[in-house]
Amino acid sequence: ADLKVLVTGAAGQIAYSLLYSIANGDVFGKDQSVTLVMLDIAPMAGVLEGVVMELQDCALPSLKKVISTTTVEEAFADIDYAILVGAMPRRQGMERKDLLKANAKIFKEQGQALDKFAKKTVKVLVVGNPANTNCLIALTAAPSIPKDNFTCLTRLDQNRAQSQIAARLGVSNDCVSNVIIWGNHSSTQYPDVAHASVKCGDTESSVVSCVKDDNWLNGEFITTVQKRGGAVIAARKLSSAMSAAKAICDHVRDWHFGTKGDKWTSMGIYSNGSNYGIKEGIIYSVPVRIAPGGAFTAVTGLSISDFARSKMDETAEELFGEKLMAMEFMSS
Ligand code: NAI
Repeated sequence: ADLKVLVTGAAGQIAYSLLYSIANGDVFGKDQSVTLVMLDIAPMAGVLEGVVMELQDCALPSLKKVISTTTVEEAFADIDYAILVGAMPRRQGMERKDLLKANAKIFKEQGQALDKFAKKTVKVLVVGNPANTNCLIALTAAPSIPKDNFTCLTRLDQNRAQSQIAARLGVSNDCVSNVIIWGNHSSTQYPDVAHASVKCGDTESSVVSCVKDDNWLNGEFITTVQKRGGAVIAARKLSSAMSAAKAICDHVRDWHFGTKGDKWTSMGIYSNGSNYGIKEGIIYSVPVRIAPGGAFTAVTGLSISDFARSKMDETAEELFGEKLMAMEFMSS
């Protein structure tokens, strides 16, 4: 059957890279026909039309239909995937609190729309920042949809970490696996390579033993990944878009088709209180293994050092702080 995939913020810069990949079959496969639904706000309707024209002009075989809209009723109707990219951007001088407030409103409305109009099996990926807390808001506003159908994007952080390690070791990116991103998609995230491995030829060894530089791994490596988004903005004067779109494709492809073998990937998922001492009630990034079709389980039993513990708790604390503010705005 046809897959109906919604992208919000469809007139924005991430979407401009993302829509082509989805329409081209890079996410769901070339044989899977896709109906793309594109939502943006009314002032962007004209831009949206331009993007529709371009998608038509790509003449892609697996793109069955394109719907562009500025109303949530139409956008969320009967969808299989919701990729929620659109959000209120942080303007200069804007407090984190104001950003949370503006986005609480957007993601509450979209959560309610998911609850009312989407398939109950819909898979939701929140990208718009603050991604974890926006995801929690949408989940809270959509009680008829299982909590495990809500995730937020930390794959870009994982890809950044993987690429830093590959570059350091002078190997190709696909030689490095099982890097973990814990917690919030923010500067408190903890990129962790304690369980990561690097494959050269037929031998697989631990990243820690190959890098042989704990100072770098526990210092500069972590801060480089944590601050990478800011570094791209400083250089490009715009936030990461090409790499964000690529990470979204990776996340959704793995969620659709499953992870391979015993490899895992990181995504922000609802914390039910049973993993690594992270309390219930936030969207927290952990490593997961995914079965074909999308059922995922958090990877359990990994050893956690004292260093990791403190980093993991710090990012959880930040998320509970965001949650407190968001819930206040949600009820108002
Ligand atoms: P952008 O500003 O180019 O595009 C955002 C689009 O969303 C705009 O067209 C805007 O009109 C639209 N929008 C705003 N409110 C909306 C609503 N209520 N419904 C539908 N559309 C709405 O921004 P860009 O670069 O595409 O980034 C989008 C978001 O993704 C930002 O919040 C950014 O911080 C976040 N981001 C998250 C990453 C992650 O790893 N989780 C990585 C990179 C960006």
